[in-house]
Amino acid sequence: MKRRTYIDPTIASSDVTPESVFLNRRDLIKASSGGAAAALGLSAAQSGLAAEPAELSFKPDTQSALLKELTPYDDVTSYNNFYEFGTDKSDPVQHAHAMTTDPWAIKIGGLVNQPGELHLEDILRGFDLEERIYRFRCVEAWSMVVPWVGFPLAELLQRFDPKPEGRFVEFKTLYRRAEMRGTRSFTSIIDWPYREGLRMDEAMHPLTLMTVGLYGKTLPNQNGAPLRLIVPWKYGFKSIKSIVEINVTAKQPNTSWQELQPSEYGFYANVNPEVDHPRWSQRFERRLPSSIFNPNRVPTLPFNGYEEQVAGLYAGMDLRKFY
Ligand code: MTE
Repeated sequence: MKRRTYIDPTIASSDVTPESVFLNRRDLIKASSGGAAAALGLSAAQSGLAAEPAELSFKPDTQSALLKELTPYDDVTSYNNFYEFGTDKSDPVQHAHAMTTDPWAIKIGGLVNQPGELHLEDILRGFDLEERIYRFRCVEAWSMVVPWVGFPLAELLQRFDPKPEGRFVEFKTLYRRAEMRGTRSFTSIIDWPYREGLRMDEAMHPLTLMTVGLYGKTLPNQNGAPLRLIVPWKYGFKSIKSIVEINVTAKQPNTSWQELQPSEYGFYANVNPEVDHPRWSQRFERRLPSSIFNPNRVPTLPFNGYEEQVAGLYAGMDLRKFY
């Protein structure tokens, strides 16, 4: 099988990433091949790690206060939500290998002056990649700390020159029934493709990351290969995976979870310990790895700890109403 590498041959990874950073990360990536698959007793071919993630060149996040709190690679890549492959946390690592990610392109259109298509190779060549260690908080009250690799979504959008009347951005995931067993299931609840959206100022915020990797390597399929969104101050369902289409719109786009259950999942979905989910509290979260013996319960922070950077986006809004 053809294996893609995204490494710029003129740059040794040690030029980009200090060895100490790699060593620290390496402790958390099990040396065994396909650690996450092995943890589930799967062969590499049965798992989403079948096409081994390739190393990326990027500017490391060495200053993050979260460096010591990283969630191990195995947990990040084996406990997933990716309903296209099933609703159990272990379904994505077992079944996402069926998704073909080469070739891959995203279509960018709607209210932009220069609509078009970008191929993955051009994305990887055309943007400077950087590592961002972010807290990641699921609406289901579990959380992780992940070293993502990507570039600001703003840089991508600017290339397509959004029109002034474009106030929102809509995202769509790949929908390929033959490769996505969850979309064929009779228990499938989502009107595919999976869709998400942001207000334009949220999309342009410097924390909003177009993500192509984690732990210094390309994304495994179960984490949304080859390209996903990460919006660290919002519940994880906003961080849409395996994106194939982006549209700038004048009206607030419909989103999958809001459409499914509007009383439980809002368009904004900002992490907020003060506003409970109708069926559970959002005051605390289970930080992975966690077990019955060591639940690792930590208090949830307003805007997931990014209040200082993003609260201004919502000045004057009633966050109980716009949840
Ligand atoms: N994107 C798509 N296309 N399909 C999904 O089911 N699940 C969301 C989000 N993006 C989902 C998705 C939810 S609920 C969460 S918590 C995160 O992905 C999980 O990301 P992770 O598996 O990388 O931790």
